[in-house]
Amino acid sequence: MKTFKIAPSVVSLDTAEDFCERYCINENDLVITNDFTWNKFFKNQRAGNLIFIQNYGIGEPNDEMVERIFRDIKSEYTRVIAIGGGTVLDVAKLFALRQTSPVTDLFDKNISAIKEKRLILVPTTCGTGSEITNISILEFKKRHTKFGLADDALYADEAVLVPELMDGIPFSVFAVSSVDALIHAFESYLSPKASVFSQTFSIQAAKMILSGYKKIENGAELSPELLKSFLVASDFAGIAFSNAGCAAVHAMSYPLGAEFHIPHGEANYTVFSGVFKTYMKREPNGAISLLCGIISKILGCDGAEALDELDRLLDSAVLKKKRLGEYGMTREQITKFAASVTENQKRLLSNSYVPLTTEQIAEIYAELY
Ligand SMILES: [Fe+2]
Repeated sequence: MKTFKIAPSVVSLDTAEDFCERYCINENDLVITNDFTWNKFFKNQRAGNLIFIQNYGIGEPNDEMVERIFRDIKSEYTRVIAIGGGTVLDVAKLFALRQTSPVTDLFDKNISAIKEKRLILVPTTCGTGSEITNISILEFKKRHTKFGLADDALYADEAVLVPELMDGIPFSVFAVSSVDALIHAFESYLSPKASVFSQTFSIQAAKMILSGYKKIENGAELSPELLKSFLVASDFAGIAFSNAGCAAVHAMSYPLGAEFHIPHGEANYTVFSGVFKTYMKREPNGAISLLCGIISKILGCDGAEALDELDRLLDSAVLKKKRLGEYGMTREQITKFAASVTENQKRLLSNSYVPLTTEQIAEIYAELY
């Protein structure tokens, strides 16, 4: 049986001022954001609890960050408003639950995820699609990897898209977040859980993102219009992977991201072509041939060259791909990481286009080393 669900209401607003008028931030709110966004757009607002994420660490979200925020929340709240990138949104989702701490128990499912507060998610990047998904990903420091909690209790009540909040986004942040969204679209398209509904969102997201990259390659600036299309595309990809799941690319990126503090989208991009070329070798005639056909039409190349042309476009317009050794990975870590992926990322690996053994995962790492 395949099911398809879009849970949050999607609200589109033009400006931060429109947001303030509609939501009236007040003493019953827990607001999680970063000081740059708050001071630029919301500094006249008063929240009961105001958390600036950068005071709890930089980079990807982790369990220690969540526990420290939990300890710093001083007063009761009935609504959680998160305004930020994937880290802010993934962390904020956990604070809409009846019980957030110990967060390890939550992710180990010793505590049930029960939604208790109203949850408003406002992205300021165009990648994770977290505002639309039921997933929170955290690095667990002592376990040296990341885990995802996928539960319908993590759906927002409202995902609010305000393109003005992306104004001035650094290109490097745009690059790693949008490439993550592209990989969400591709992985969900190939997932055994994909349906015609989820694939429609996957394809539309891929078309919008790749067309945008082509414009950038031809010299386009990150205009408000272009950023808005990436914001919508990242939600389309989020809808697709919320239903069909991400897979081996995400699974293999997690030990890299956790160990070397590589931004999530960049870690995905580093392993993406290795995983997809392995898929192509193992099962060239299934959904991957349809996907390559779609990519080749957008990029204007032959189907057989789609993955190579995609690599070229991404490298030229978006992000230079590094080899794993350049991040400081050692050859000994190839087998260690492969074993960790098989042991810890079963949720993701079960969505892979073809099943991958620990040895095959190690071969992909070795190829990319
Ligand atoms: Fe992702």
